[in-house]
Amino acid sequence: MDVRRSFSRRQFMGGAATALGYLGLKPGAELLAAEIDETVRFPFARRLDDPYDSLAHLNSNENPWGPSKNMLEAMNGAWKYANRYGYPDGNIQSAIAEHHGVSRDHILMGAGSGELLKVVGLTFMSPGKKVIGVEPTYSTVYRHATDLRADAITLPLMEDYRQNIPEMIRTIKINHRNVGFVFLCNPNNPTGITVTAAEVRQLLDNIPEDVPVLVDEAYHHFVQDPAYAESLPYVLEGRNVIITRTFSKIYGVAAMRLGYAIAKPELIDRMRPYSTGSVNALVKWGGVAALKDKESEKWVLDKTVELREKMIAGVKSMGFDVLPSNTNFFMMHSVRPSSEFRSAFRERGVAVGRDFPPMLDWLRVSVGNEEENERFMQALKEIA
Ligand SMILES: Cc1ncc(COP(=O)(O)O)c(C=O)c1O
Repeated sequence: MDVRRSFSRRQFMGGAATALGYLGLKPGAELLAAEIDETVRFPFARRLDDPYDSLAHLNSNENPWGPSKNMLEAMNGAWKYANRYGYPDGNIQSAIAEHHGVSRDHILMGAGSGELLKVVGLTFMSPGKKVIGVEPTYSTVYRHATDLRADAITLPLMEDYRQNIPEMIRTIKINHRNVGFVFLCNPNNPTGITVTAAEVRQLLDNIPEDVPVLVDEAYHHFVQDPAYAESLPYVLEGRNVIITRTFSKIYGVAAMRLGYAIAKPELIDRMRPYSTGSVNALVKWGGVAALKDKESEKWVLDKTVELREKMIAGVKSMGFDVLPSNTNFFMMHSVRPSSEFRSAFRERGVAVGRDFPPMLDWLRVSVGNEEENERFMQALKEIA
């Protein structure tokens, strides 16, 4: 049921007032939020008079609506623990484990999944070791390898911008003794394209068993491609697979920092000494609420897909090619260097994705709320 539609006007106004209360705003303050009814479920709003808020943030694949009301309530309730070390944390680790049908010892939590990507590097890389994956992708793991005096072997995408699994298998076999781990971002950032379930199986079945494979599923919740499958079954089979997930995207708490890894307990035990354990009390409670709040999750998914497809149709109607997306962003062929587009968009108050070499004439655009997306389309019409 869509709760928004079943709200009476009185409940609705009460909800909106609560929403404003959360923000410390008086009713009547100038809001730049999308639709007021959205603010009942997502009582976060932007302000016209704030230079940061007034920018259309289409550059970091964030959720433009922020955390749901249920998450905010749970997080607000955790302030009373702000002065404590050992405090009740809503049993977040158990909640995550239960959500995936695994035991707690399969889960390692981190301050964002970015922390876990680094933990994997610290655990499996050492000077001379290689991380193997494609380029472009979410390249933190490659940069981190260099910091560890290790190295990355990056493979080009195929002509259709999909990850080249046979080439990955070949490269892993050739470098077997020196492979620290394999990185598979699924769906891939920045292309938004999935690796199919059959391809993941092909990869895992054709590489030496001892090679750890890190599957970054940051955008898992947005995937609608029926050929895709999450990689959890491989963890349960006891393979050397580590999955990372985040609360930064569909659950809208990027700044609060919560992510986790799922792997067999032996791997988690090896990784744990490298994690900081520095997740804050508020987001632990927010995370528990997020996993329970299926309606809000579905709302974000449906709205994101609806708005993404509307944007893609608009961009295509202007003659630009767009890669098929299974995420909350898409990549368009800007033809000219994307850096030129980026500056022109920025002058118009719209932030879009950075460069992703070697795809330097492609632009990554995140899906924002209606108002941000309209500003993007308006700016594109002026620039193109
Ligand atoms: C593919 C991918 N993995 C991981 C992250 C890191 O997210 P976080 O550290 O907020 O969980 C991002 C952030 O944009 C991402 O795009």
